[in-house]
Amino acid sequence: MNAILRNTLDLDAWWMPFTANRQFKAAPRMLASANGMFYRTPEGEPVMDGVSGLWCVNAGHGRPEIAEAVGRQLMELDYAPGFQMGHPLGFTLANRLTALAPEGLDRIFFTNSGSESVDTALKIAIAYHRARGEGQRTKFIGREKGYHGVGFGGISVGGLVNNRRLFPLLPADHLPHTHLPAVNGFSRGQPAHGAELADELERLVALHGAETLAAVIVEPVAGSAGVLPPPVGYLDRLRALCSKHGIVLIFDEVITGFGRTGAPFAAQRFGVTPDIMTTAKGITNGALPMGAVFVRRELHDAVMKGPPETIEFFHGYTYSGHPVACAAALATLDVYERDGLLTRAAVIGDHWADAIHALRDAPHVTDIRNFGLMGAIDLQSRPDAVGARAYAAMVEALKQGLLIRITGDTIALSPPLIISEAEIDELFATLRRVLEGLG
Ligand SMILES: Cc1ncc(COP(=O)(O)O)c(C=O)c1O
Repeated sequence: MNAILRNTLDLDAWWMPFTANRQFKAAPRMLASANGMFYRTPEGEPVMDGVSGLWCVNAGHGRPEIAEAVGRQLMELDYAPGFQMGHPLGFTLANRLTALAPEGLDRIFFTNSGSESVDTALKIAIAYHRARGEGQRTKFIGREKGYHGVGFGGISVGGLVNNRRLFPLLPADHLPHTHLPAVNGFSRGQPAHGAELADELERLVALHGAETLAAVIVEPVAGSAGVLPPPVGYLDRLRALCSKHGIVLIFDEVITGFGRTGAPFAAQRFGVTPDIMTTAKGITNGALPMGAVFVRRELHDAVMKGPPETIEFFHGYTYSGHPVACAAALATLDVYERDGLLTRAAVIGDHWADAIHALRDAPHVTDIRNFGLMGAIDLQSRPDAVGARAYAAMVEALKQGLLIRITGDTIALSPPLIISEAEIDELFATLRRVLEGLG
């Protein structure tokens, strides 16, 4: 980092999220501005954004349409309470979203993040069962390696041990993960093997009793664990089993929503419709915090009970449906639709798949996976130092002008949906150089 900046900025006060704070502050990595596919460092060096910020800037950076809509809205109506009051943009946005959603998911609850969307969805599942006289359905089923944010609900159904081990958890059990490199190594798109892993739900039903189970939650393509596309047929089986046992099926589409897989939502790409869908991130192109939970009408209607003056669902956030976030989301949807970004990953996905799988012979690579405009590269771990090699790759990639994301010894990629074929080639040429230079 620039010496002048280092001398003028005190880095102590910001306790940074999911960051090795002491390591970072000893050698900070800073981004100062962004446009299109590129960030710039404080020194003005360009850095290609290989991860859409954090899987969220789907239309690329610095979109003037979004900035202008936000600026206008701040002066028109900066804030309005959402409890017992409404404002037109919230309703307009909810209607726009339902028009994009899989058929039947036409009720929207607004939140401010993916974590809040997940905790909201879990509560809706409980409220639905309770309203139907099945209040004993309170347990959740997540999946190993799942990531559903950091609320207490989200970490309980999540399956990443470091996020769970310190904290008290809600009652939850887990399906096995679907990462099977021995049989599915270097799969292009959906892996062929593993659909039967969905049948493990039958075992969990036999263990817990269907009448105690409220919801199953999975990411259609697991993202944070390192891009695990569902085996062919897996999601269909999960859907069928949830329907059979009266269990609410939640797809966590916080990453896969808004075009990442080549359709507006992964549910549409895979042709499997859940009962609830959680979203955030790309809903505003990452410009402002917002999330939305899409709910099948039947679930919503079951909860709309009692005298009309009763609050049906005791849940909500001060900023649920924040007018400025709504304005950002509406402008974002305009950009997505005008530029065809919600389906572009299906078009450019073949070039992406060719380019990422061409790294198969690069040093240290043990597996490669891809789906839509998502991809992951597993590296052989250094002896007794899991994560060190991928961390070195991230630091070196940044030096060479490329932002990647790592988890353990996996490199994850999810560039803005505007990426060109030439930029895809540039991204993987940089990554090859990085891998070839790694010890
Ligand atoms: C699938 C999924 N769910 C939930 C979340 C949490 O979202 P947030 O960080 O906005 O709370 C994430 C974040 O990456 C995610 O990938």
